[in-house]
Amino acid sequence: MTAHPLDPLTAEEIAAAAAAIKSHGGLDDSAWIETISLNEPSKAALAAGTAERQAYICSYEPSSNCTFNGIVRLADGSLEDWGHVPGVQARIVPDEFAAVDELIRAHPEFQAACRARGIEDMSNMLVESWGAGHFGIEDEEGRRLAYCHCWVGNEAGDNPYARPIANLHPVVDLATYELIRIEDFGAVPLPPDPGPMNRTEHLRDDVKPLDIIQPEGPSFEVDGFKVRWQNWHVRIGYDLREALVLHEIGYEHGGEIRPIIHRASMAEMVVPYGDPRGGNFRRNAFDTGEYGLGQAVDSLALGCDCLGHIHYFDVSSHDWQGAPRLIKNAVCMHEEDYGILWKFQNGRAGTSRVVRSRRLVISSLCTIGNYIYGFYWYFYQDGTIGVEVKATGIPFPSAIAPGESSPYGAVVGPGIESHVHQHVFSFRFDMAVDGPNNAVREVNFEPAPVSEHNPHAAAINIVETKLKTETSAQRTLDMSRARYWKIVNPEKHNAYGKNTAYKLSPGNNSLPILPADSPTGKRGAFMYKHFWATQFAATEKYPAGMYPNQDPGSDGLAEWTKADRSLEGEDVVVWYTLNFHHLPRPEDYPVQPVVYADFHWMPDGFFDENPAMDVPPGKR
Ligand code: NI
Repeated sequence: MTAHPLDPLTAEEIAAAAAAIKSHGGLDDSAWIETISLNEPSKAALAAGTAERQAYICSYEPSSNCTFNGIVRLADGSLEDWGHVPGVQARIVPDEFAAVDELIRAHPEFQAACRARGIEDMSNMLVESWGAGHFGIEDEEGRRLAYCHCWVGNEAGDNPYARPIANLHPVVDLATYELIRIEDFGAVPLPPDPGPMNRTEHLRDDVKPLDIIQPEGPSFEVDGFKVRWQNWHVRIGYDLREALVLHEIGYEHGGEIRPIIHRASMAEMVVPYGDPRGGNFRRNAFDTGEYGLGQAVDSLALGCDCLGHIHYFDVSSHDWQGAPRLIKNAVCMHEEDYGILWKFQNGRAGTSRVVRSRRLVISSLCTIGNYIYGFYWYFYQDGTIGVEVKATGIPFPSAIAPGESSPYGAVVGPGIESHVHQHVFSFRFDMAVDGPNNAVREVNFEPAPVSEHNPHAAAINIVETKLKTETSAQRTLDMSRARYWKIVNPEKHNAYGKNTAYKLSPGNNSLPILPADSPTGKRGAFMYKHFWATQFAATEKYPAGMYPNQDPGSDGLAEWTKADRSLEGEDVVVWYTLNFHHLPRPEDYPVQPVVYADFHWMPDGFFDENPAMDVPPGKR
């Protein structure tokens, strides 16, 4: 089968791209591969049918401490724009993580530091190499660094994070594999063994089966990575950094597929932690740009608790030698019953109509160290698109001495504290509402003064503002005005003379607590606005820049938007920041029940009436 231009790279394509770099990339034997991912074709090439298969590739050469990137044309293995990218550091890849873990556990200096804490068994230990961030510390400039956090696993062997070793941080040069130093801020007693994570005793016995039966099969149709369901059309994609990507989201209406979003993804995230003590100020995980969520996608062959008829999509990742690695069942798709879609009852006539809602769920889970993020995309029968993050796993555990209280967190278990933090996600939407040229509107609702026309102060003024350029389109939520944003097609009109539109309907959100001029605030400048809009540029993919690892904040949304490009009748990209604030509770430990954070894209004059009036009632 010939791949569609937007299909994820196949294992063969990944291997071919790796071979091309090894044979004529000009790098020495120390080099390894950070990323091989689809280089997506332009909209023009897609429309013209001239898109060719290309791989984006990024490589790191330890001997020179240099990062290289470019494009491999898969038809003939030739390289384009291949070269050194000065002053940047590639992501920290999983194989590097594993290599550092092994190196440090075998290091005599580290073993001595552990023995001083009464820890003898190095085999049941985990050393994680986190990004060092950028704090202007003198001997760190220009070096490729990892700042490590350490744990002793439980005796049952099913929880490597069971017993944190507080205040012990090996600092490693990742180019030379040298232990530069061990930062030791004082021993804290190792917490007691919490026992097995996978409990088998005292399980509740009153959970009766709940089966979802679809005797005629699912209502979706799948062709490769293309999906059609209840008028919705969407393509499943995958990126090594962003994980699940959706392409060409459109709704079939009046005999045509009306485009809405050309490309949608979670493009960056950061988790700033609020404990300034010892080495803990370093914990600010940019999980997408520093580590790569696509490489952390769970194979749901190991467990998926979705009910009903499930369709899985496999994707291919790779190791640092560029060898393809199949992620079986990386993306899960199924239908869910979602309660009432709409109801009308006429008591006088004694008639009623109630229609049940169903949604298509497309999701992926990413395990990134101790934590798990689920990214869920929902398509509803009324034209609404839901975007939801589900967070679970183990809230980052540190050790605390018995009887002490945690000034920057909470005691969540025996000898365990977990620090206050925020999970900040940046979702990127390359919009295409009814076509390529869109514009941005902000809607606010405001009280009006008492006047002759408003004698009882009942008026709510609807204030719609054009956000015409990038500097005007950097906005935060305002609950007092019930603020939201709309992407309109200025060339298209509905039956009522209004531009067809989709509105971004926010849900729970928060703002960063750390100051914008702090080291991490500068690196994550995207955090400080909930809504950004930019004019499309192919190179502007990740809101904290292409290379956030150890970057001071030199690239990304705040930099690009200084150009203040027009957004009126242009190819508009929307970036929505979703921030959920988290002070861990004892109930979040030893595993956190799923926390949800979401928002929606809703049609707003895109249709002339409720597009779900044709959904049949009854048990369907
Ligand atoms: Ni959390």
